[in-house]
Amino acid sequence: MSFDPDDLGSNPSDNPDLQQVIAQRFSRRSLLQGGLGVAALGFLGGGSAALLTAGPASAQAVPAAWRGSSPLLGFKPLKVSTLDQVVVPDGYSAQVLIPWGTPLMSTGPAWKKDASNTAAEQAQQVGFNHDGMSYFPIGGSSTRGLLVLNHEYVDQVMLFPDGDAVITAEKVKKALAGHGVTVIEVRMDNRGRWTHVDSTSNRRITGETPMAFSGPVSLSHPMLQTSDPVARGTLNNCANGQTPWGTYLTCEENFNGYFGTEDTSFTPNALEARYGIRKETTTLSGGGANPNAGKVLDFGYRWYTADARFDLAKNRNELNRFGWVVEIDPSKPDSVPVKRTALGRFKHESVAMTESGGRVVAYSGDDENRDYVYKFVGSRAYSTILAEEKSPLDEGILYVAKFNADGSGVWLPLAHGSGPLTTANGWADQADVLIRTRLAADAVGATKLHRPEWISVDPRTKDVYLTLTNGSGAPTVSGRDPDVYGSIVRWKETGGDNTALTFAWEPFLLAGDPQKDNRTTVTEASRFGSPDGIWVDPDGRVWIQTDISNSVQRAGAYERIGNNQMLVADPDRKELRRFLVGPNGCEITGIAVTPDRRTMFVNIQHPGEDTRAIGTPTAADPRKVSNWPDFDPTGRPRPATVVIRKQDGGVIGT
Ligand code: FEO
Ligand code: CA
Ligand code: CA
Ligand code: CA
Repeated sequence: MSFDPDDLGSNPSDNPDLQQVIAQRFSRRSLLQGGLGVAALGFLGGGSAALLTAGPASAQAVPAAWRGSSPLLGFKPLKVSTLDQVVVPDGYSAQVLIPWGTPLMSTGPAWKKDASNTAAEQAQQVGFNHDGMSYFPIGGSSTRGLLVLNHEYVDQVMLFPDGDAVITAEKVKKALAGHGVTVIEVRMDNRGRWTHVDSTSNRRITGETPMAFSGPVSLSHPMLQTSDPVARGTLNNCANGQTPWGTYLTCEENFNGYFGTEDTSFTPNALEARYGIRKETTTLSGGGANPNAGKVLDFGYRWYTADARFDLAKNRNELNRFGWVVEIDPSKPDSVPVKRTALGRFKHESVAMTESGGRVVAYSGDDENRDYVYKFVGSRAYSTILAEEKSPLDEGILYVAKFNADGSGVWLPLAHGSGPLTTANGWADQADVLIRTRLAADAVGATKLHRPEWISVDPRTKDVYLTLTNGSGAPTVSGRDPDVYGSIVRWKETGGDNTALTFAWEPFLLAGDPQKDNRTTVTEASRFGSPDGIWVDPDGRVWIQTDISNSVQRAGAYERIGNNQMLVADPDRKELRRFLVGPNGCEITGIAVTPDRRTMFVNIQHPGEDTRAIGTPTAADPRKVSNWPDFDPTGRPRPATVVIRKQDGGVIGT
């Protein structure tokens, strides 16, 4: 089963498309070379002009010695790898920590390698498919802290002893327990080895944990009414964020993929359609009658066949309880997670938080082909709001980005009463605007993007980096249509103030393989594609994690790129080096460091998943693609965290 349905897109608006905008910018390169001022040139500087005028990548010199030219990148770059293991540079180690099924407490249920743990046992174990992650130091420590991590989805072939041919209510319960978030205390010994430890902080938040709603949309809103007065759970927790007040933010991404119905009398309304709910057509795309015609299929979980909560015809509004950013306080194990509705409802990939003048700014991309990027700006200093025992994430304005061809950009407010979002136009109030965020963004004229994934703010410069993983169906940069490799865009808010309503942007790099596509701006040695996770460290290193879909990994355009990987870029020289490569069938996602940055945590998600170029795992042979990390001849692959250490104890990346 492929879990990469995001590239379908569900945006029918005729808003401008960033690829058209970038193409226009590239066509202006002679203008830029001529030195004529445009609004954005103040930001662009020398390095960017070089990018804008770059020819085929063969013209770029590959560093003769591994030390290269960047003083930031102090490690020997890796070659591509197709090994079924985690590969790190010379002088580094990678240790497996808290794989799926690890009991949270030493007295908890042991993981069973035949996947026969029950739903109740799974709820006391680390969940499946680790994703975004933060490290919360205890007392500022770099050897003791709480690791908080998301579990984006479950692979039901791996999760159940008999696979997923039959879905039962007990299986739905186990799958829900495999989702959500883990909070677990971890410590390092004096030999640099990390372990998880028993702690009163250890907890699981799952697809069934009761949730609160806060901000303009309350749980009592008519569009959130279901047969259950309690809002249960968080789903498809992709990437994350961390607030300045010590809480964790988890993002609900592809929530539509959990809902479906066999009731052909159900027809999605315009709002549901815009969030990806579709009836099956009468004919298959390849021709022939569609046996599911008129039904709404989910992404393959089929929970709606065993649990009415996920059946759209029976519980339509359950869908509207998802698509939010959820705040969790890891220091309070009994606290109820809160859905922070002021940040909008869409397929939130991640939340990148910063502050300016004491006000919070939270950036978040909507990961769908031809959807948008947003930012929330707090209305007052967050310390003032906290002192009133209120949430800084409940008071502020949500904006959506418009990118202009001249390198300028503007943030458009999604505020009730402003622009087209008026009562006369059918927008009832701010809650209505937020529940229908995508439609509000369509109405104000936001710029479509090719699957905006993670965002990170450079802590030195306040520049904002955004990965656009890949996309299709639009005129693209240098004729790349579909853009199978993706790109990274960055911008500077006017005056370096992240609350500003205008910005200057540029393409930072265009991913690719120079032997397959001479429009890429990366070299032969650092060829890569499908950037997803991104984090700019305090020295400015840009850490980039890839998520090449298992449907295209190691074949075609990705034939020479190997397994998914993590690279590091110099933000000024744009030199790029491969730092880590994962095992077969995985993606690399999630990145967290200790305060001293001498330990880095990275997640290996979905090792061994169905990979077209390798094979299809089954209940009888779950090891078909990978058997990482246990390599037990009768076991199965397990998503896990890996701990990266430099053997000399130095800062990671130096
Ligand atoms: Fe969960 Fe867009 O990755
Ligand atoms: Ca992702
Ligand atoms: Ca992705
Ligand atoms: Ca993923």
